[in-house]
Amino acid sequence: MLVLGIESSCDETAAALVANGEEILSNVVASQVGIHAKYGGVVPELASREHLRRIEPVVDEACTRGRVKITDVDGVAVTEGPGLIGSLLVGLVYGKALARALAKPLVGVNHLEGHIHAVLLENKLERRAGRVAEDAPLPAVTLVVSGGHTSLFLVEEVHAPADLRSVVFNYKRLGQTRDDAAGEAFDKVARLLALGYPGGPAIDHLARYGDAQAVDFGRIKMKGNPLDFSFSGVKTAVLYRVRDTTLAVEAEERRAWRLTRDHVSHDELRDRCSQGTLDLIASFQSAVVHDLVERALAAAEAVHVDSVFVSGGVACNSLLRARVLEAARKQGIRALFPSPGLCTDNAAMIAAAGYYKLQAGQFADETLTAHAAIPLGETKDSGARIHESE
Ligand code: KG4
Ligand code: ZN
Repeated sequence: MLVLGIESSCDETAAALVANGEEILSNVVASQVGIHAKYGGVVPELASREHLRRIEPVVDEACTRGRVKITDVDGVAVTEGPGLIGSLLVGLVYGKALARALAKPLVGVNHLEGHIHAVLLENKLERRAGRVAEDAPLPAVTLVVSGGHTSLFLVEEVHAPADLRSVVFNYKRLGQTRDDAAGEAFDKVARLLALGYPGGPAIDHLARYGDAQAVDFGRIKMKGNPLDFSFSGVKTAVLYRVRDTTLAVEAEERRAWRLTRDHVSHDELRDRCSQGTLDLIASFQSAVVHDLVERALAAAEAVHVDSVFVSGGVACNSLLRARVLEAARKQGIRALFPSPGLCTDNAAMIAAAGYYKLQAGQFADETLTAHAAIPLGETKDSGARIHESE
């Protein structure tokens, strides 16, 4: 079954062709980073306008690269939410119209479900290449950690009620951020320090040159559900460390210097950062990563699963990947990540998630529409305990 995936929830216009939920024929992502970078974040109006301009060429490109005629597609999977409403609508309406014109089934996919399926898809690719022997182990705890989301889910595979030969997935939300997403905190700290947009990749690189112990942000404490997250405190703590200090003067000099350049490499940026700035960056990253790892591993323990998945743009972070692997090994469980290209927003993950829905006959009808906020799964009390006082 050949599925066309379409993704436009934020600032990437993406289309991909995936065969049988396990083989990527093409995966096209038109990034708008260049457009939003000068504003230090995504400007929704500009994003939807750009999606409108790019959606058709991106779908055409996916067909060209996949050497497939659009009429060969067996079904269309499109992101229905959550995301920026104007951006979502462009992909959704295009996908809906295309499915109707081709007389092919359509399914709506939750963006977070797509990020979770990126892990399963990556494992299928590895399996096809002979690098792993088995499918990704389920049930699993998944940490979805991106610019818009930081959530923990329990993911289970079940038989579709309508057709016991096909599988569908159950999601239970164990926790989520109460304020900023982790990627949003990376982006805001990067903006404060004039490191460019998106901030995650720059911070990931620069943190290697700083002392992660230099600034003690303390542990992030959560009242209530210990699997919830909160990153606005550590972000504000960075602001207080910078405000009215030489670090603020240095950041403004960097901002002015950046304006004179079309492109700035991470190494050039490092040359413009004092040791104090590098130490602050490393300490900030370490505090966020420590918290993500601790809660993800606590979730796996609480719901008694043997594997933890990490996906979303922040799953590209090298420290996070290393720390999750290390902590999982200590806990005797497995950790799986998508490759970087499948961590950040893409349509292959939407096509992969859509494949199972198409198989199970969970087709959308003409009432399918975009939702800026659409939850994935029911909330579940995991009973997790984290000793917040340590
Ligand atoms: O999944 P994604 O492409 O879009 C959303 O659904 O939000 O994630 C983008 C986010 C941005 O906040 C970006 O700064 C962050 O992922 N990111 C990283 C890294 N690469 C991307 N954060 C930390 N370290 C990275 N290496
Ligand atoms: Zn995303």
